[in-house]
Amino acid sequence: MAARPTNLRVNGERLWQSLMAMAEIGKTPKGGVNRPAASDLDRDSRDRFVAWCRDAGLAVRIDRVGNIFARRGGRDDTLPPIVAGSHLDTQPTGGKYDGAYGVLAAFEVVRTLDDVGIETLSPIEVVVWTNEEGGRFSPACTGSGVFAGVFELDYARGRVDRDGKTLGAELARIGYAGPDQVGGGPVGAYFEAHIEQGPILEMERKTIGVVTGAQGVRWYDVVLDGQAAHAGTTPMNRRRDALQGGAELVMAIDALAHRHAPQAVSTIGVLDVAPSSRNTIPGRVSFTVDLRHPDAGVLAAMDREFRSAVAAVAERRKLGSSIEEVWNFPPPVFDPACVGAVREAARALDFSSREIVSGAAHDACYMARIAPTAMVFVPCADGISHNEIESATPVDLAAGCDVLLGAILARAGVL
Ligand code: GLV
Ligand code: MN
Ligand code: MN
Repeated sequence: MAARPTNLRVNGERLWQSLMAMAEIGKTPKGGVNRPAASDLDRDSRDRFVAWCRDAGLAVRIDRVGNIFARRGGRDDTLPPIVAGSHLDTQPTGGKYDGAYGVLAAFEVVRTLDDVGIETLSPIEVVVWTNEEGGRFSPACTGSGVFAGVFELDYARGRVDRDGKTLGAELARIGYAGPDQVGGGPVGAYFEAHIEQGPILEMERKTIGVVTGAQGVRWYDVVLDGQAAHAGTTPMNRRRDALQGGAELVMAIDALAHRHAPQAVSTIGVLDVAPSSRNTIPGRVSFTVDLRHPDAGVLAAMDREFRSAVAAVAERRKLGSSIEEVWNFPPPVFDPACVGAVREAARALDFSSREIVSGAAHDACYMARIAPTAMVFVPCADGISHNEIESATPVDLAAGCDVLLGAILARAGVL
């Protein structure tokens, strides 16, 4: 086998142009992107990606949960593929880079190999995972979760959005409920490039984050039931106001993350009040909870504290309460050899780097269960993500893609 070229660079300008073209689909007035999973806009972004891949001569296939694989053959096509990618769905106030960067960086790697005529021993597949964000359908990372055997296909396809539509029906409607079995075959390695979505690389002026793992996540749906009643006639001491209980829990859930500082975080991102009428006491409050910590033991303690806070408030305020855990995502540790390939690729190209634990969940976290996996992070402005102002520089994005290329070549083998 020939020596691996250590100084090969991707076409950063082409990568940037592809990101900007993808960001046109679902673009918002504030410069961001709103492309919910399995929506018409998600279909449009998938169609654009598939068209680009077919133009580049890649073989495209789609599995039954809508994951897209675009394959560049290897010298030995019986070898397990080296897979790289991310997602094209976004948050409602999403940016141009969260997800799309990982997909288009992997695609740029393939285009660069074509430009210079490098053949790899193993095939390379660029993947788009379905419903990574979890903003429309819970839980997140659904497509990679089914691929990795964490979720049953029927469970994933049965996930329901706020309008009662299922992921399966929506995928069929947009033409992306494919014919292929989900997963099952071996994967040689999995790599994912992503903006950091936090402030560390920028603060420390590092270009590359060598991602060693991610923190754990637990998601819940909570419902508090009180009694709807007249706002003018019901004395304060006779009320069972669900929102007052909810307000106490909003504070308690914030406080529990502060108790486990500095690494714990907690978020209530959705809160619905019913019947939502100015002069009726709220009879029902529903809200989501997102708890995270890199240590599974601390996350379990946070889970216990959260549950007892709900029970205590419900008892004191005579409210009914229910907690449904909709996602339990233990902290993954990435493969030392793949992490080493990322570190070495950054070193060979002379990029500054540091090891980092991902604060966000990623499809890579599920892939790590079934294949040697690692991630490459690049800085984003002010560490802001899940916001339309999300921003990253063309230079940093190209650097991360260069590192992705180096890591993929290290695993795919160069002929
Ligand atoms: C995915 O965006 C997450 O919630 O970490
Ligand atoms: Mn993402
Ligand atoms: Mn995201």
